[in-house]
Amino acid sequence: MKILSASSILMLSTILGTCYGQIAGTAHDFSSESWAPAQNRLCAVCHTTHNASTIPSAPLWNHETTAVAGYTLYSSATFDPHGGTSITEPGASSKLCLSCHDGTVALENFGGITTGTNYIAGAYRIGGVTGGDLSDDHPISFEYTTALASLDGGLNDPATTSSGLGGTIAQDMLFNNQLQCASCHDVHNKYGFSRLLKMENTNSQLCLTCHNK
Ligand code: HEC
Ligand code: HEC
Ligand code: HEC
Ligand code: HEC
Repeated sequence: MKILSASSILMLSTILGTCYGQIAGTAHDFSSESWAPAQNRLCAVCHTTHNASTIPSAPLWNHETTAVAGYTLYSSATFDPHGGTSITEPGASSKLCLSCHDGTVALENFGGITTGTNYIAGAYRIGGVTGGDLSDDHPISFEYTTALASLDGGLNDPATTSSGLGGTIAQDMLFNNQLQCASCHDVHNKYGFSRLLKMENTNSQLCLTCHNK
């Protein structure tokens, strides 16, 4: 049997690494933290199999949710007037991301624990010092539809444009037609790109999937 050369093994692992990722070893792998649960260490900080929180449409959610009651939302002269595009309070899975990322809830506050002391910091904290400021972040929690694309003129039609991930933008990147944090990121590192992105962004491929610039 021919033994694989070091370079072909490297090539193979690069191919596998770019097609398929996993949560182990990522920034969302908390298993080596002192506060990681004894059981189900990779998942339990975020999910539980029983007695999950009752947040609407959250997948068996186990983490305490954000303490922010009302966020400062994105606005700009060119964004706001687009007929029909009203931006709402972060909803769906974005609210789950912000449970840790706005820095108002301790990371180890899961499974009913409310006394944690480790908060997310630095560039990983989205929402400014108060945790409630999303005005300087890419807008989320608004509908990105065919109508918006034709009004804007600089956006691809989400219903017909391929995302490059197998389906259309609407199928692979939107949630009930809404743009959310998970439009660009995969929380479980499914795609294996840095920053948990759904695709490479070296030549702004991610941006150009939706923006026709
Ligand atoms: C850092 C938090 C976090 C960790 C850790 C995590 N998840 Fe998730 N998971 C989420 C969020 C947020 C969503 C909803 C957003 C989404 O679907 O992309 C989700 C969605 C899901 C879903 C439903 C949607 C889907 O992708 O099928 C399943 C199933 C799931 N997670 C399983 C797991 C399992 C199993 C583990 C452990 C191996 C795990 N998750 C670890 C945050 C996490
Ligand atoms: C249980 C808390 C928790 C939840 C829920 C959570 N994150 Fe994170 N996330 C973290 C922590 C902690 C880090 C790493 C911070 C560090 O390394 O200091 C991180 C890092 C990241 C990074 C940077 C990864 C890198 O490699 O640099 C991205 C992107 C990210 N998270 C996106 C998301 C998105 C999107 C969601 C929701 C779909 C989400 N996170 C939900 C805690 C969380
Ligand atoms: C339109 C696409 C898009 C959306 C929506 C989006 N992100 Fe990101 N995010 C990115 C890109 C691209 C990067 C990498 C930036 C870089 O490396 O310079 C990034 C980086 C990050 C990082 C790492 C910051 C750092 O400096 O290392 C975190 C954490 C993060 N995002 C969390 C979130 C959360 C939470 C949300 C929702 C509130 C969100 N993102 C929404 C595209 C997006
Ligand atoms: C999943 C689709 C999607 C991706 C990916 C995406 N965007 Fe967007 N982006 C939108 C939509 C839709 C809007 C809202 C446009 C509007 O109504 O003006 C928007 C808004 C913006 C705005 C504000 C426009 C304004 O008028 O205020 C900027 C700037 C922007 N995006 C830049 C980026 C950059 C840079 C990236 C890559 C890191 C990116 N976007 C990735 C869909 C996307």
